[in-house]
Amino acid sequence: MLEDLLGRSFPYLRLSVTEACNFRCSYCLPDGYKKTGVSDFLSADEIIRLVSGFADLGVRKVRLTGGEPTLRRDIPTIASAISALGRIETLAMTTNGYNLKTQAGIFADSGINALNVSIDSLQADKFHRITGHDKLKDILEGIDLARKAGIKPIKINCVLIKGVNDDEWPDFVALARREDISIRFIELMQTGDNGDYFRKHHLSGEVLQAYLTAEGFAPLPRSATGGPALEYGHPDHGGRIGIIAPYSKDFCTTCNRLRVTARGDLRLCLFGEFGYGLRPYLQSADQRNELTQRITDLLSYKTRSHNLGQGVTGLTPHLASIGG
Ligand code: 5AD
Ligand code: SF4
Repeated sequence: MLEDLLGRSFPYLRLSVTEACNFRCSYCLPDGYKKTGVSDFLSADEIIRLVSGFADLGVRKVRLTGGEPTLRRDIPTIASAISALGRIETLAMTTNGYNLKTQAGIFADSGINALNVSIDSLQADKFHRITGHDKLKDILEGIDLARKAGIKPIKINCVLIKGVNDDEWPDFVALARREDISIRFIELMQTGDNGDYFRKHHLSGEVLQAYLTAEGFAPLPRSATGGPALEYGHPDHGGRIGIIAPYSKDFCTTCNRLRVTARGDLRLCLFGEFGYGLRPYLQSADQRNELTQRITDLLSYKTRSHNLGQGVTGLTPHLASIGG
């Protein structure tokens, strides 16, 4: 198993398969995705070699992310090939849900067995304002279809946006209570491009924690592989609420994930200053040992913590470029 110098291990790979996105979330791509240079994202073959290498190093959970991963037409092919390796237990995908209504069954059939769908508002008009798309209803229907196709768990990601969706916490909590869906609230993170938006709309996860406690929720014990979310449960129902609070103290001590960008750069931290090219090691299946050696060597550069508190956002202009 991959381990860094601080004894953290990394069973979890977040793999961006495209930088492109069709949404314009106000904190991420407010002006829409702008193509820069050639979009030479990793090919399906390169992705399979990459995942095989990480599987050799003990990775058992892979998340396909973006941008919007479902904009790639070969995403079912990629997912099926990863499943066929027989070594990845959890094949997750993070999506804006745009293609769920038409493709949920295809995603399930290709082996995707965990889904995170981004929904920052449960009000159709506000959802439209935040994302640029009047698609809330279709996305909720898509989630239903994904559930019927057997994908479980399904989680909703909701970014905490002060003055925009903090009046909707009760509705999100009610949804978690009513349906077998977990909600993940994500503290707004500052990236290279969203400084003004961040200063205006950032809300500390602590405010939400106080709200959940007042509503009768209590923190659940951390699971070893659970990663950085603080999970809350309620004694009276199954609804689960997670909080991802990157600005909280000790957030990084439970880091269990590595990231690879759509162009094949290893990122040791979401907010790191460096990317390390893996693509040269993905050109033939014979390079597998070189690849795993390279990843193992690079891990010694993983730092104890990000420096977000000091406003150091690293290389990341917006999360669409790397996958949140
Ligand atoms: N801060 C917090 N969350 C973000 N996401 C995208 N950009 C940011 C940001 N700046 C979220 C998306 C998606 C998840 C992958 O990351 O809404 O749910
Ligand atoms: Fe929104 Fe995700 Fe697209 Fe960014 S990448 S605009 S957060 S859907």
